This record gives sequence, C-alpha cells and structure tokens, in this order.
Amino acid sequence: MRAIKNGATHYTPASGIPEVREATARHVTRSTGVPTRMENIVLTPGRKNLLLFALLSLVEAGDEVIIPDPGYPIYRSLVEFIGARAVSLPVRQGNDFRPDPEELRALISPRTRLLIMNSPQNPTGGVLRREDCEAIAGIAVENDLVVVSDEIYSRINYDGEHVSLYALDGMAERTILMDGLSKAWAMCGWRLGFGAMPVEIARRMDTLMINSSSCAAAFTQWAAVEAFESAESDLAVDHMVREFRHRRDVIVDALNSIPGIACHKPEGAFYVFPDITETGWSDRDLAVTLLDEVGVAVLRGTAFGPLGEGHIRLSYANSIDNLTAAADRIATFLGAPVSG
Ligand SMILES: Cc1ncc(COP(=O)(O)O)c(C=O)c1O
Repeated sequence: MRAIKNGATHYTPASGIPEVREATARHVTRSTGVPTRMENIVLTPGRKNLLLFALLSLVEAGDEVIIPDPGYPIYRSLVEFIGARAVSLPVRQGNDFRPDPEELRALISPRTRLLIMNSPQNPTGGVLRREDCEAIAGIAVENDLVVVSDEIYSRINYDGEHVSLYALDGMAERTILMDGLSKAWAMCGWRLGFGAMPVEIARRMDTLMINSSSCAAAFTQWAAVEAFESAESDLAVDHMVREFRHRRDVIVDALNSIPGIACHKPEGAFYVFPDITETGWSDRDLAVTLLDEVGVAVLRGTAFGPLGEGHIRLSYANSIDNLTAAADRIATFLGAPVSG
C-alpha cells in the first residue's frame, strides 16, 4: 500500500527495480549460500515466465528437455510449445518420489539441452536429498547441461533440509534457480517470480521481458522486499509451514483410512498424491466422478504425465474443516465408513 501511495505505479526497468533486484540477490545469497549479485537476478510476473524465457533462450526446436514424470504439467506443455521434445524422468513412489540418478544418466542424448528439476515437488511432495542433488549435479557437469531448478516450494519442507542445486559445486554457472512469491508467501495473485542465473542468461531474459511484459508490476516488486526482509513476514511463513504440516498429517491419515487408497506421506510442498489403483477406478474417472457426484476437486495423476497413472492429486492448501469434509465425502463415495 505504501508503494502504491508513493507512486510505484509506472514502468520499471525490464528485469526489475535495481533496489528490489539487490534485495532479491541478498535473499538468494542468504538462502543458498551462493554469492549472488543484482546482475544475476531477473524479476518476472510469476515463475512461469521464467521457464518460458529459459526455454526460448536456450532450446531449439528438436532439442530434448528432461522433465520429471509425474511433474508440474507446464514443463511438458511449454517444452512442446517451442517444438522441443519432453523426455520423462520417472519419479516413483517406491523411491519416496525422488528420481533415480542412474535413470537420469541413461536418458541423456546428444540432443539433451536442459534438465528441469523441481524440489519439493508438485504433484508428489517429494523432496530431493543431498545425495540425490550431488549425483544430479555431477551428471549435469559431466554432460555440460543447463539445469532449471524450480524451488518454489523450498520453504515448505517439513522433515529434512532443503538442498538447492544452485548451491552445489560447479552449478551456479549452469543453473537457473527459479522461485517466486506464490507459494511460501501465498502471494500468487500478486504475480512475482524471480530467477537467479548466470549473467549471460539474465541478459537474454531481459530482452524477452522488454518484448513481452515490459516489467513486473512496480508495487508488487516493492512488496517482495518486505516479504524477504521483514521479521513479521518470516514468522508468518514459519507459522504457515507448521499449519501445512498439521494439514498434511490430517489428510494423509484420513486418506489412508479409506480402503483402496494408499497415501505416501510427502516431505514438502502442499500436495498429496495417493495411489488409488486398489479402488478399481482409473484416475481420470475417479477425478471426474468425485467432482460431479460429491463436489470434491482433485486432479487425475495422468494430468502430470503418463507415470501419474493410478494416482490422484489433492492440494491441502485449504482449511482442516474442508479437508476433513472432503476426505469424508471420498470415503462415503467409495463405500467406506466415514472417519468421523
Ligand atoms: C512447481 C511449480 N512451479 C511454479 C508454479 C507457479 O508459479 P508462479 O505462480 O510463480 O507462476 C507452480 C504453481 O502451482 C508450481 O507448482
């Protein structure tokens, strides 16, 4: 509100207001330990633009981009939109929804240009461990790959440490770290994403910003400084993460009490990705029918890639009352006793 009253309602430089880029660089340096300067930072109207710009800057039609499967659907749709080929890297429940580095190595071909990683992950809530990140970083360095590391859920990590690929040896010069205000700060409607990347790539993104959005909204950029640097903001995020952890425990227990549903307890983000094969339903039919018949909105697992088959995705960014009511309706619909 202060920024709007002070007249921050005009165009800004394409990559962002210098003071805000500096505050973002301080935030990235603090959270990853990698000395990051304003020149490494690009501010965009949401994290999605950064992904599109990364693809436009680095990938040609016919190139291959490795993406997690199941994974955030926009990875595949943008890769295919620019005429490149999306290559699925399996993320399996049996491995706590973490990819296997050896499977990754086997997918690399002379056409591989980019590797997209996401931890904590949408839709599974899987979190990469330090040993996973080290193995992935080693493969990226050996094969001279650029890595897009989508760490938008980095603060929403319940059990372990968040390891940033950007922070590992030899990675800052080949990684586009993507983050934004949409998740930890619940500012998704403010539209602000930020990326930390090598200066050369940041310059290309600046050109793409000039030719597309011009800039992110000026007052939203100023709000980011408060999000990163005010003590209240930090406490509010910690409070919300504790609340999400409680919601996760409630929804996982409620789902596991329904016969036919097996829900793995995710370590991060705010999604669960239960296996519903034993219910006898396909993920597509169950998702459509739950919405039509009992008013519960879930997504079919295959919306996140072929390997999401047999799963549905639920977001628990909702009140405990609504989550319990949703689980009860699913239980009743599937013919199980209600959880109470
Ligand atoms: C993995 C992942 N990345 C990015 C986004 C979107 O980020 P933004 O709102 O900054 O465009 C989402 C939103 O659901 C997401 O799940």
